Amino acid sequence: MDSFLKNKNSGWWDGSVGYEIYMRSFADSNGDGVGDLPGVIQKLDYLSWLGVDLVWLTPFYPSPMADFGYDVSDYCGVDPLFGTLEDFDELMEEAHRRELRVIIDLVPNHSSSQHPWFLSSKSSLDNEFRGYYHWRDPGPDGGPPNNWVSHFGGSAWTLDELTGQYFLHLFLPEQPDLNWNNPKVIQEFDEILKFWLGLNVDGFRIDVAQGLVKNMLMPDNPYRFPIRSDMSPRQVFAAFDHRYDLDQTGNLEIFRRWRKLVEPNDALLLGEVYLRDNDPNRVSRYVGSGDALHRAFYFAPMHVPWLPQPMWDTFRDALDAAPVDLSWALSSHDDPRAPTRLGGGNEGKQRALAYSVLLFFLPGLPFLYQGDELGLSSVELDPEDLADPVATRNTVETDGRDGARSPIPWANAPEMGFTTGTPWIPMGGRSYEDTAEYQQETDGSWLMSYKELLKLRKEHLDPNAPLRWVTARDSGVIAFRRGGTISALNVSDCDSEIVLPEGEWELVFQVGEVKKISELLIFGVNSAVVLLLTS
Ligand code: NOJ
Repeated sequence: MDSFLKNKNSGWWDGSVGYEIYMRSFADSNGDGVGDLPGVIQKLDYLSWLGVDLVWLTPFYPSPMADFGYDVSDYCGVDPLFGTLEDFDELMEEAHRRELRVIIDLVPNHSSSQHPWFLSSKSSLDNEFRGYYHWRDPGPDGGPPNNWVSHFGGSAWTLDELTGQYFLHLFLPEQPDLNWNNPKVIQEFDEILKFWLGLNVDGFRIDVAQGLVKNMLMPDNPYRFPIRSDMSPRQVFAAFDHRYDLDQTGNLEIFRRWRKLVEPNDALLLGEVYLRDNDPNRVSRYVGSGDALHRAFYFAPMHVPWLPQPMWDTFRDALDAAPVDLSWALSSHDDPRAPTRLGGGNEGKQRALAYSVLLFFLPGLPFLYQGDELGLSSVELDPEDLADPVATRNTVETDGRDGARSPIPWANAPEMGFTTGTPWIPMGGRSYEDTAEYQQETDGSWLMSYKELLKLRKEHLDPNAPLRWVTARDSGVIAFRRGGTISALNVSDCDSEIVLPEGEWELVFQVGEVKKISELLIFGVNSAVVLLLTS
């Protein structure tokens, strides 16, 4: 029974906890204000001490940085801002010496508009690279070929005067979409994957995994609801049913191909499968057949309100659809930090930690985003300090991403030890209590609590133990058992009780107020526990 959860997607990642490093804001070694690879090397001991197993590095490739590295102009290099290939080698060696795995961010949906492929492609209608991208004649009215919109605002098409055709970009015009129906693009990426596997990477986080293949007839997407001029790019994007630009079945063929390619190296394929409706049945297709992605991020937990019914629906539906293969994250560089989303202040921080008790004991691969372990909230920046193009290029008020991207406060030092220079975006008014230095020395700090939680997970959670719900949808407490552990989270707005299953259960980790009276547990609001079966 214990091997129930072992399936075709099992691997070294089964018992792991991941940690997302947003390169620009993690640690700067050379005083230019931007985090870099040597900075990451300097913090590997910290990551080992914290108890994570796997590090995901956001893009560090040569890039004009229009989208801060998600616009790649050379897939097989390192941008000088982040270091050199030698630094990357050293990072891999130092990480592996500490038994830390490293996965890198692969950005296959689009390149930079400065990539040599695109520069050639745009040079003439019959250039040999023309077919690497999506070029189309104007629509009948002379405007864009269809109604597709960019995630970052406006039409997904930009006219190139030279050839009189439009090119497609689901993000910025500086990020033209690659044409995954072109076998040459497929071959190029085979070589890119092999290049990095040759440098011993432990896998790939695949950016925009839901978007690679497009319907080549490029029909208009149906509207779900009308667009208003005061809507943010995210809202406008959500106003469409993305029937023809996202989540096409061809994506799976590409991932099946990559799966064969990475298997000899035992490398992980983890997809960012960002489907706005978060339909778990659709996300599960990317992992369900056991021969495509090993894991897919599931984003609904980052958006669901802190209320019993939506929470129950989110987790039960997701685990019914994909019982083993999802990846969970508390926060990311694209969304508000968890404590902010969950109410702000101390309450938000407590809720984020309590939520981790749930997320980190579920089957699947959980991730911390840098600074989650410090209980960091998003920061508020002055309008002139905003850097994210989502914020700077749109006139309507947007949910730009800078608030979650301010640099990590490490210590009691200028710029909180992040850099000896001027940070690329402001630190955002962090206090000494926010720093890793302070929290490492303070019992009961957020950092020490997250570290304790990870330790418990490592020591006591059998990654192959199936999940059994201890409570049901009518309870304000979401509780489940896996082997000899129970995790329980009170998401109701009042005290709640549960009765423990048979056996002697010891309460080993607690967030907020929880009383255990024999087999009865009484939860205060925003509280959570981990229990271990002792006999
Ligand atoms: C998802 C990444 O996480 C985000 O930061 C980026 O802007 C888009 N993909 C486009 O690459």
